[in-house]
Parts: sequence; structure tokens; C-alpha cells
Amino acid sequence: MMDSTGARMSVAAEVPAPYGPGSTALNRPTSDAAGKPVGRIRTHHLQQAKDNGERFAMLTAYDQYMAEIFDEAGIDVLLVGDSASNNVFGNETSLPITVDELLPLCRAVARSAKRALVVADLPFGSYEVSPQQAVATGIRFLKEGLAHAVKIEGGSFYANSVRSMVGAGIPVIAHIGFTPQSEHALGGYRVQGRGDDGQRLIDDAVALTEAGAFCILMEMVSSATAAAVDEAIPVPTIGIGAGNSTTGQVLVWQDMAGLRKGKMPKFVKQYADMRSSLSDIAKAYGQEVRAGQFPGPEHCF
Ligand code: KIV
Repeated sequence: MMDSTGARMSVAAEVPAPYGPGSTALNRPTSDAAGKPVGRIRTHHLQQAKDNGERFAMLTAYDQYMAEIFDEAGIDVLLVGDSASNNVFGNETSLPITVDELLPLCRAVARSAKRALVVADLPFGSYEVSPQQAVATGIRFLKEGLAHAVKIEGGSFYANSVRSMVGAGIPVIAHIGFTPQSEHALGGYRVQGRGDDGQRLIDDAVALTEAGAFCILMEMVSSATAAAVDEAIPVPTIGIGAGNSTTGQVLVWQDMAGLRKGKMPKFVKQYADMRSSLSDIAKAYGQEVRAGQFPGPEHCF
């Protein structure tokens, strides 16, 4: 959908909240008037979004309640990211998390989301060795993790792995640009695709799309290059620090909600200060317990 200036408009801006007349495949309720769940977002709905000039929203989720809340709020895609490593398990980077650690989180999210497409990250070390290894790990995430699709990091080098996974019935998102699993090889958190480097990302995106990736995710890519990638490929794109031309946007939910402390990357918008809110309620609870005010008579049997 375009506005009068020809710019893409967000679906949310056009359709009265929560879901008014003119709802699209993406922008629709989780249940009908009788409370019966409506259908799941599928990969072809994301393709429709690109074809129709609509946008979609993706957030990470790692557990039951966040999956339920985001799903009911209409978030279209939930990513069980390997960022669970440094947002759930207390690691410094995404590298240490294992398949066996991420699988149960994925299962919890997939069981709890009724509408969103659930995408699982393949952790570092679980797909790089060969296309066979990628297929085997992808199958585990669909079979044991109940994910609907997987995401891997890396450029055209992984085109054969994408082809093999897609051939095995596993929908794949390819993550290019800054790929956190390669942070040591990339020399830290650095914007990718600036200047002449832009063509490399376009070539990667084309190769991965031709191999069957249904979506390309770009992290910390210059806005001009991200726009050129989006233009060069027919499939939808998702951005995180990749400007405003991609079909979808993704954020790590703890960043978006202001749960994480410390310096935020430039691409993060914090929509709340949940860290302070939770700290305040924890202090109030602690004080009431110490003062003998909780539990009150109404909480006792
Ligand atoms: O694991 C993750 O959260 C991600 C996002 C940064 C896209 O891959």
C-alpha cells in the first residue's frame, strides 16, 4: 500500500485498531467473533506482504507468556533467536548456546503462539559443517521444537545448505550483513554493506534467494544497501538496523521493552522501561514481606 507520495504505508496505519474492515492476510484477529482461532501466518502471507507493499512485525520470544502476549498483540513472526544465549542464559554472546538448550524454548513458543509464524535460529556449530548437518538440525527444530521455519546466518557460501533444507521441506530465512555468530571473524559489531561492500550483500541475497530462502534478514546494513537488496530480490526482507525499506522489522524483545541494561545499539527503540517497572514491583513486594504486610488476610486460607 502506498500513500499519496508513493511511499509504503504500514498496514497498522491504514486499518483501524485492532482489526477493521480491510484487514489483510497479516492484519487480522487471532480469533473470530465466536472465539475460534483464525489461521496461522504462513510464509506465503509474508510474500503477499512484499507483493502488496505491506509491512510485517517480528519480535524474538523465548517462553510461553511472551509468545502468548506478542501473538495476541498481532506480532506476525516470532523468532526463537540464538540471542537467547545472551538474553536468557546469561552468556556474553550468541555463540555458546546449543541446539539442546534452544529446542525447549522453541517448543514453548510454538505451543503458545496461535497465529504467528514461529522461526527458530540454528545455533552456531549446528549447520556450518555440511548441507547434511543443516538438514539434520533443521529437522530437529521442526520436529522437536515445533518451529515452522528456521533461520541461518551467512552468505552465498550457504546456498547449498539452504537448497538442501528447502528440498527437505524446511522453510529457511537467510540472515546476512552483520551475523553475530561470526562476530570474531567480522571484527566486532560493525555496519556491513557500506560503499563497494554493498554489491557483496546483493550477490549473497540473490544466491540465497535462488537457493530457495523464503526471506532475507539483514542486520546492521547501511540503509541504501538494504534498500538495494530489497529491490534486487523477489522475496520479503526483514531488517534490524537496516533502515526502513525492508518488508519487515525485527527487534530482540528485551531491547524493545527496556529490560536490558547498558548501552543500546542505535537501531533499538525502547518502547517501555520494563527494567525499572519490574525493579519497582520487586522492591514493593520485598518491603511488604519484610514489614509483615504480605500476605494479607485476603491471601490466606
Ligand atoms: O537471535 C536473534 O535475536 C537474531 C536477531 C538479531 C535477528 O538473530
